[in-house]
Amino acid sequence: MKKGLTVVFIVLVIVLGYVAVHALTAPVKLSAAQLGGQLIHSNKKGIDCLACHTIGKKGGNVGPDLSKEGTLKHSVKWIEVQIATPAKHFKMGQMVKISGKSYMAIMPDHKMLSKKELFDLASYLDSLK
Ligand code: HEC
Repeated sequence: MKKGLTVVFIVLVIVLGYVAVHALTAPVKLSAAQLGGQLIHSNKKGIDCLACHTIGKKGGNVGPDLSKEGTLKHSVKWIEVQIATPAKHFKMGQMVKISGKSYMAIMPDHKMLSKKELFDLASYLDSLK
């Protein structure tokens, strides 16, 4: 191989290698629902949902099963309000019926969560069908 060609070849390999590594290591942008899914299964402060709610196979039964929350036709906004301030929907201490089952309305406020966290969590629950 001629010297000039060899140099061109090496430069090409370096450039392509750089592009490939960059493409593989670039951060993938997650949707709000995906971020909410990660958050709800994390141990972050204020994320206590699974103590009372079942999602999939994991969780408690003090509150309704949220595995199919998206089929209940609540808006994302409604779910955000529910998470931050449940008493705006259900009077504390009263018996409420949700999807045919009775619950004592005792869900706590989650005012420590940011607007973005509320939106991500609500988007995630809305996606569960
Ligand atoms: C101490 C138990 C408890 C915890 C912790 C809890 N919930 Fe609840 N949740 C309930 C109960 C009980 C209800 C029934 C209504 C109420 O209490 O407001 C409820 C209702 C809901 C509903 C409304 C379901 C519907 O469609 O009517 C959503 C959505 C919800 N919870 C999401 C969450 C999320 C997300 C978290 C965590 C950030 C969470 N809950 C933490 C007990 C809890």
